[in-house]
Amino acid sequence: MTAQSLIERRFNVLGRHSPLFYEKPLQLVRGEGVWVWDADGKRYLDAYNNVPHVGHCHPRVVEALRRQAGILNSHTRYLDETVIDYAEHLLSTFHPTLQRVFLTCTGSESNELALRIARETTGHMGVIATDFAYHGNTAAVSQISSVFTPASKRGPYVRYVPVIDPYRQRNGRRDEQLADFYIQQLQQAIDDLARNGVKLAAVLFCTAFSSEGLPDIPKTYFPKVAAAVHAAGGLVIADEVQAGFGRFGSHMWGHARHDMVPDIVTMGKPMGNGHPLAGVVTTAALMETFTSQNMYFNTFGGNEVSAAVGHAVLNVLRDENLLANALTVGEYVLTGMRRLQQKYPIIGDVRGQGMFFAVEIDDAARTKKIVNRMRERGVLISRIGPHDNILKIRPPMVFTKDNADVLLNTLDSVLSELA
Ligand SMILES: Cc1ncc(COP(=O)(O)O)c(C=O)c1O
Repeated sequence: MTAQSLIERRFNVLGRHSPLFYEKPLQLVRGEGVWVWDADGKRYLDAYNNVPHVGHCHPRVVEALRRQAGILNSHTRYLDETVIDYAEHLLSTFHPTLQRVFLTCTGSESNELALRIARETTGHMGVIATDFAYHGNTAAVSQISSVFTPASKRGPYVRYVPVIDPYRQRNGRRDEQLADFYIQQLQQAIDDLARNGVKLAAVLFCTAFSSEGLPDIPKTYFPKVAAAVHAAGGLVIADEVQAGFGRFGSHMWGHARHDMVPDIVTMGKPMGNGHPLAGVVTTAALMETFTSQNMYFNTFGGNEVSAAVGHAVLNVLRDENLLANALTVGEYVLTGMRRLQQKYPIIGDVRGQGMFFAVEIDDAARTKKIVNRMRERGVLISRIGPHDNILKIRPPMVFTKDNADVLLNTLDSVLSELA
């Protein structure tokens, strides 16, 4: 079976618009740790995927799944200790005010539920997101996912604010002034909703602004977002689908890294290491108000197998010290990237923390070429940002310094050809 004939078969059943990475799409057949193999037996270093958070096919996660699947997997309306153990462990990683969880299956579903909770409990309808955000694919969530939804389809209850961009938009301003400028934009969006008779239900932000390009966010920004939103009678929804589960090394959650306590947190991708597990964490009061008026249940979300898998992910993060690993290996990668920045003037900025890096390249076409050339050389990365010119590097948390050397040396060699 050639890759080309598989692509044709895929088009015939999944359609031509179901997205595929790379000019030459990859057929991956196996994964282990930070490595994946294609159908020809070629090995690739995975420096992109956050879904296999603790590494592809981590033996403890695989064993937890296999074991529980062989014991019981029904649905979520029976008492089950595995589920409660998991929920207790998960909630122990949150601020003491955030002590209730809904388990779901996808990030989209989590954001949909978060919007319902915010709208129901505030009695307001307005939602604010950034002007280059992706939060999911349900009807309500796609309205606020500005990156893929044309302005005409975004609806009267939604407003967008520009994403904070210290690299391109600093214009001599200090961090605090820059944060204040973007808070003014947020206030204008709140006021614009009000002028149109719409009160604010929530702001929904990714706490890393990852689709937006992973900007370095000034310390005062998120606490001021929370203050402005609360003053308007709305709630803060922190989307941790990309930033969560220790990706930044210093903290388990992106909002904690910014000293902000949200009202609602949504999670997904890394939570089940590839198994469809996601969730919404909130306060006891908000859950009580919402669920006393809306019977909420979810057939698959947090079933026995999902809980066993999710728990194994948390245990591996803890037992293998993967947050600390993200910090030390992350520093090593950043230092190497900054060396490349000195060598190649086409690199405008290097930023990131833990296992998440953004490298600004001077132009979008060249960025695309770099990503494809890296894939040919056996290293998987991608690109992000409103100008499509930022290399997105976000490996599994078990990435080592040796892996980082492979990434940096390959990038060096690709840049030497394309710079
Ligand atoms: C920040 C963020 N939120 C939500 C989602 C939606 O998650 P899912 O694809 O699991 O529905 C994504 C997916 O890319 C995301 O990046």
